[in-house]
Amino acid sequence: MGNPTQNPETPQNTTTRPRISFLGCGYLGITNAICFAELGYEVIGYDVDAAKIEAFSSGTLPIHEPGLPELLKKNLESGRLRFTTDIQTVADFADVHFICVGTPQRQGEHSADLSYIEAAVTDLSRHLSRKCLIVGKSTVPVGTASWVQELVDRHAPEGLGVEVGWSPEFLQESNAMHDVLRPNRIVYAAQSEWASKLLRDVHKGILELAAVEDREVPIVETDLATAELVKVAANAFLSTKISFINAMADLCEVTGGDVTDLARAIGYDARIGNKFLRAGIGFGGGCLPKDIRALTARAGELGVGESFRFLGEVDQLNSRRRSHTVRAVADLVGRPSGPAGPNLSGLRVAYLGATFKPDTDDIRDSPALAIARKLRQARADVVVYDPEGIENAKAAAPELSFVKTLPEAVAEADVVCAMVPWEEFRTLDPEALGRQVAERRILDGMNAFDPEQWSAHGWDYRGIGR
Ligand code: UDX
Repeated sequence: MGNPTQNPETPQNTTTRPRISFLGCGYLGITNAICFAELGYEVIGYDVDAAKIEAFSSGTLPIHEPGLPELLKKNLESGRLRFTTDIQTVADFADVHFICVGTPQRQGEHSADLSYIEAAVTDLSRHLSRKCLIVGKSTVPVGTASWVQELVDRHAPEGLGVEVGWSPEFLQESNAMHDVLRPNRIVYAAQSEWASKLLRDVHKGILELAAVEDREVPIVETDLATAELVKVAANAFLSTKISFINAMADLCEVTGGDVTDLARAIGYDARIGNKFLRAGIGFGGGCLPKDIRALTARAGELGVGESFRFLGEVDQLNSRRRSHTVRAVADLVGRPSGPAGPNLSGLRVAYLGATFKPDTDDIRDSPALAIARKLRQARADVVVYDPEGIENAKAAAPELSFVKTLPEAVAEADVVCAMVPWEEFRTLDPEALGRQVAERRILDGMNAFDPEQWSAHGWDYRGIGR
């Protein structure tokens, strides 16, 4: 256990720590690599993308994730963290290899594409020369771990006894560093006592930090299938919660209710809880949408598809938020939709937010960006501002106009659409903003403002489900 007077992030005794590699330096891999180095482990991050590896090695983080760039630099300097594109170096170095490569949705299908896992595991296995543990972290369809063990058995030199374990990851973008260093639970599966001990040793640094901070981190040790399922189950549950509250938002809109009060009221029931009950433009990102589709597809393959039909509805309900929001903008500006959708030609829209949520530059499956594009299709003049997401959004949606500051976006606007709850938007002052726009009309897609306060300053306010 660590000494409480030390900096909690000061690494403790490192002699019993296994050496770790992270294969695949996307969001998951890079965050884990940096954080495990911070916890005192010797770490190698591996990726096939040479440009990425070069950037990381020189201390550059090409993603926006609070706190992580500083930690990258610190741990490169400590010598505990390095990066490579050479799989032999990785194979020789680590006792535990974490597989963190992407498992995107297959083109034109709902199932997950496992080709990156296959490539990484096969390549690593062929270069191994000693016993080690390969642990999957990527989100996968249940049954993948057994298939990975088969791959290892086929490609690793005979007699090494390389084992496969699984340990799902629950990190949220914008809070990634915290979620790895201070997770609310650790889940893993091992196939032998040897592997189980190694997994305990690998997570020791997290437990030591928790002890210093007087916290407890529960550990759930389970079988391979359950460990794989935990991740998709968690994401399916979160998605369902969001779609549920969005369905209630629709009901509130037609009855004059307020979904934010409703969410607050049901959230006080500890059985329900108050998190992930923010109604709005729907969920997006690199995980939730693809994970519910992959789970539904896998359940179908396994003969229990009927039990997961509701997830298809969760997904569709989520997609419908986008056209629903476009209609809300059209109503707000008095141009109700015809059969072909609204005609918003000549309407100057100040569009605040492009990322899939605040404090990230990630625009993958971003509801905000999708809605901006729909408004443009309806011929509105959409001027987008986002604190960090402009570069990515510009590449994905070149038909939109982008500006570098909020005042440029709102100047002379006929309507303001505040879509992503960045701090900069949540703290907007209705009076000051009112002096910059042409018309005081606001669509609060974040449900973050007090409608009465905005109305008192002459704004025509519209939220979602209130
Ligand atoms: C998610 C899971 O939360 C995380 O545990 C897993 O490891 C990866 O997938 P992330 O994709 O980073 O994390 O985003 P998250 O914070 O879960 O938000 C997902 C989406 O839901 C965002 O678009 C967000 O705006 C939306 N959301 C969230 C709502 O619409 N309402 C809410 O109440 C909460």
